[in-house]
Amino acid sequence: MRRPPNIDELLQRMTLAEKIGQLNLLSAGEGPETGSAHSRDIRARLEAGQLGAIFGTKSVRSVRAWQEIAVEGSRHGIPLLFAEDVIHGHRTIFPLPVALVCSWDMALVRATARVAATEAAAEGINQVYAPMLDIARDARWGRIAESPGEDPFLAARYAEAMVGGLQGDDLTALDTVAACLKHFLAYGAAAGGRDYDNASLAPAELIGVYAEPFRAGVAAGAASVMAAFNAVNGCPMHAHRGLIEGWLRGVCGFDGLVVADYTGVHELIAHGLGDRATVAARALLAGVDMDMIGEDYLACLPELAEAGLSRPEAALDLAAPAIIAAIDRSCRRVLSLKQRLGLFEDPYRYCDEARAKGAALAAPHRDLARRAVAASCVLLRNEGVLPLKPGSRVALIGRLGDDRANMLGTWAVSGDPGQAVTILEGLRAVHDGPVDHAKGANIVDDADIAARLDVFGPTVLPDPRPEAELIAEALALAARADVVVLVAGEAKEHSGESSSRTELDIPAPQRRLLEALAQAGKPIALVVMAGRSLVLARESRLADALLLAWFGGTEAGHGIADVLTGRAEPGGRLAVSLPACSGQVPIHHGAETTGRPWTGQFQKFRTGYLDLPGEIPPARGLYPFGFGLGYTRFEWGEPRVTPASPGGPDARVTVAVTIRNAGDRRGTEVVQLYVSDPVARIVRPSQELKGFERVTLDPGEAREVRFTLARDDLTYLVGDSVEGLSRVWDPGSFILRLGPNSRDLTSIEITWND
Ligand code: NOJ
Repeated sequence: MRRPPNIDELLQRMTLAEKIGQLNLLSAGEGPETGSAHSRDIRARLEAGQLGAIFGTKSVRSVRAWQEIAVEGSRHGIPLLFAEDVIHGHRTIFPLPVALVCSWDMALVRATARVAATEAAAEGINQVYAPMLDIARDARWGRIAESPGEDPFLAARYAEAMVGGLQGDDLTALDTVAACLKHFLAYGAAAGGRDYDNASLAPAELIGVYAEPFRAGVAAGAASVMAAFNAVNGCPMHAHRGLIEGWLRGVCGFDGLVVADYTGVHELIAHGLGDRATVAARALLAGVDMDMIGEDYLACLPELAEAGLSRPEAALDLAAPAIIAAIDRSCRRVLSLKQRLGLFEDPYRYCDEARAKGAALAAPHRDLARRAVAASCVLLRNEGVLPLKPGSRVALIGRLGDDRANMLGTWAVSGDPGQAVTILEGLRAVHDGPVDHAKGANIVDDADIAARLDVFGPTVLPDPRPEAELIAEALALAARADVVVLVAGEAKEHSGESSSRTELDIPAPQRRLLEALAQAGKPIALVVMAGRSLVLARESRLADALLLAWFGGTEAGHGIADVLTGRAEPGGRLAVSLPACSGQVPIHHGAETTGRPWTGQFQKFRTGYLDLPGEIPPARGLYPFGFGLGYTRFEWGEPRVTPASPGGPDARVTVAVTIRNAGDRRGTEVVQLYVSDPVARIVRPSQELKGFERVTLDPGEAREVRFTLARDDLTYLVGDSVEGLSRVWDPGSFILRLGPNSRDLTSIEITWND
């Protein structure tokens, strides 16, 4: 154990070059690289004292080797940070974030983050680039898979659970890691759903919706934040001083480390902000402390610190002392995080081969992952097909039904697909009856798309047989079976980074397979694998049961089989609205009302779509946010509100409802509370989620669920600039809505006076 340094003294002893070195962040290149530029010469950088952190290592041995060079081979012995993308698990892969959020079970989310931190920390990793907190309302955007969905309240609870699970109470503990909230800010609002595209948002929506999970993550103590690739209202986030230094640090009180995203500083050149020196200066001054991959800080800051920078064309005039002060400030943040992690005392504290071996894919981790799969599966429709009848002969059809390569989903960079359980294996293990399998169709039939999907290795390798032959084989299997379980959907790389789509359908060959099977007359349970909210209109008509299983990770096959056979409840409730057609996105449950609101059916000169069935609200989708069925039935009592006319700033309102399990098996209901503000000074969202509670009841059991609202819960932001935002509320009428999803709600109007 070494003595931790005094950071002020250490900074005084460091040269400018050593400080700039601490701001450099490179990839070990031991896993897939997610950009076109790659890190080279990291050994040379280390030996020259030009590296503060490495991400993307894949073993304790490699972490230890790099750390030895950093600590033993440098003047001050400053240890490296080791970071990794641990998005939905490290070695044990959990369901995709968008799936896990569908559990609405924050204790479960926290437990998965604990496991991820334990596995990662045992391998020498001390910072993870998670949680991803980008509100996503446009399913064209592939990174909706990594997101907490469309709602800021739910996403904020996810942020708290993830930070709590990853960081625990003590960052020096051997099973905790520093969280990194990303991508700050509004990356999910990319124009047209195109990854990396820019966002234009009114300040109140930017802060009230998109920044809300970041606010919650910071309040929960997150140690670091990653900047987003996109520009917001004309300023790229890597240069956005107003949002990083101004809002995140100034308003929100964040005092941790801000890292760039992959070549994000360098990309400011393509954004049109100037040459390499200019963008390095702008990012540093904006508050981006570490430069990932691009090395613009390393290349430009020494000279900038000597000569300053004057760029009239970019309205920039910086004196050298300002640059030096910013370098000092950022270096202090890097060193402080290293100190918080206990790395100065023992740079190898997280490296332990035995612990790493014992932790990775440990049995309790896999058990939790299996439970998490069932909790994330959303049952959208069920005409008496599920759970499967014991003893029934099942025709399991679909290439994805017996597939290991796709099971983990996107962004599982340390997961081993070889460890994943397929649905065929899962079903055979628990279903009390024969299960036969046929592929039925290829995942996609377009060779160009197939090549793009196989970017990280083969996932959609086609069966060379003609489509008719594959379908005929499936039909023959179906003919001999009691029930068809068809598994269809996306390949894992259909979603994720740089995987935006214009059409949100299940790929064509699998749709044709479903159509053919629907003719065969056997009941069909369709299991959909997806990394985004797909359009399932046709599928809802053709299948008798519809289970949205997302990508479930290592234990997907077991967890899905548990749900199909009724060993577990389908626990999921949608964290994203499912559109009725691709043209309906972006959508979310709280869309503002208009001056010509939709009336419940198509009407000329009203908000709506000419070509959307009249009964589908234009901004709500086919399956609403919060929706999901279970295997039992609940009866809801009349909601009660006390007092009905509250007054004064300290007043509280309690909303209570009693629900009863009226079915014949144990089950869970997610009780959801929404609030509408029908008269306000500006147009308000049609409704906002303000509370939820999961209630699990035995048959016949009843429970009262209560929510308490304070006046603060009814406030909202107004203002023309981020700096000028203020929080206001408008006394008078409010509508409280309670129900099992964002559509089927019982409303009570109250009057809340000043
Ligand atoms: C780019 C992604 O946007 C980010 O989420 C990730 O953490 C980095 N690459 C590092 O892999």
